Amino acid sequence: MVKSLAPLFDLQNIARVLITGNGLAGQDILSVSQFDRETLSYIFGRAREMREMVKKIGGADLLKGYVLTCLFYEPSTRTSASFIAAMERLGGSVIPITQGVQFSSVSKGETLADTIRTLEQYSDVIVLRHPDIGSAQTAADYADIPIINAGDGTGEHPTQALLDLFTIREELGTVDGLKVAMVGDLRYGRTVHSLTKLLVQYDVSLRFVSPEILRMPMVIMNEIIDAGMDVRETHDVADVIENADVLYVTRVQKERFTDLAQYEEVKDQYEITPEIMEKAKDKMIVLHPLPRVGEIHYAVDHDPRAAYFRQVKNGMYIRMALLAGVLGKA
Ligand code: NCD
Repeated sequence: MVKSLAPLFDLQNIARVLITGNGLAGQDILSVSQFDRETLSYIFGRAREMREMVKKIGGADLLKGYVLTCLFYEPSTRTSASFIAAMERLGGSVIPITQGVQFSSVSKGETLADTIRTLEQYSDVIVLRHPDIGSAQTAADYADIPIINAGDGTGEHPTQALLDLFTIREELGTVDGLKVAMVGDLRYGRTVHSLTKLLVQYDVSLRFVSPEILRMPMVIMNEIIDAGMDVRETHDVADVIENADVLYVTRVQKERFTDLAQYEEVKDQYEITPEIMEKAKDKMIVLHPLPRVGEIHYAVDHDPRAAYFRQVKNGMYIRMALLAGVLGKA
């Protein structure tokens, strides 16, 4: 089942500062491996409170006077916008370096270390997205303020995984006992790396659906197998659709391919259509970190099981909870 795939990256050098209970204050958020179940349930509880607060009064003054820097070396819509919205709804403000670092001194050759050491002079927390694996760890090594990893290349995207898991919990009422199928680019997709590593803490069955060249990296497969989880790999959505409780669909990460001909070969392999949805359980949910580029037909959007825009909204509540947490406003 698991053939030899070259390890794609080495997670050994990612610091695993375990965050326990509500001890988020002052912590970096670099990897999902930092969270235990107690902390996850604390964050989800806070996210629910944030949701209620936003519904009732729109915002609060909890982070008044605090400044967040959003430093994005890669494109983003949801992650950057939801962090900005989260900070502003809590009364804080934002330095947004999200419109392309070409307008910052990065284009003059400034190193990540110097950029971070500069921006921390103005802010209380930095959210970083960068194309290199381990970049969030590098930033954390230099910064005295919390660094939140908003995607380090093909490595991790921990805050996305938290909002994914929160969405599963809110939509289906539980996580334990579920069958979670992930479809698409499992090799380069950082969201599925983080979500899988997070699900290792739960009693779930995993089904991985991908083209041969986009299988889940061996280093993560080993974690799953060591945890004794039920996991199977296939190339075909038809093999998983009837039993899945969660169908987590991903985009083929074009920007990670060195050979574009290879991308062309695999890019249109999967499309979730209303016909496929007919075979799924009534209570199954479809998630996608977005952006989608053809993996889910627009006709599926009308299906109540299509949860991806509700998932988007949950991202803001989770990030409100995280910002309040790392800034010590428990
Ligand atoms: C994802 C990402 O950047 O990894 N987007 C996101 O943050 N919601 C997924 C993707 O780009 O495909």
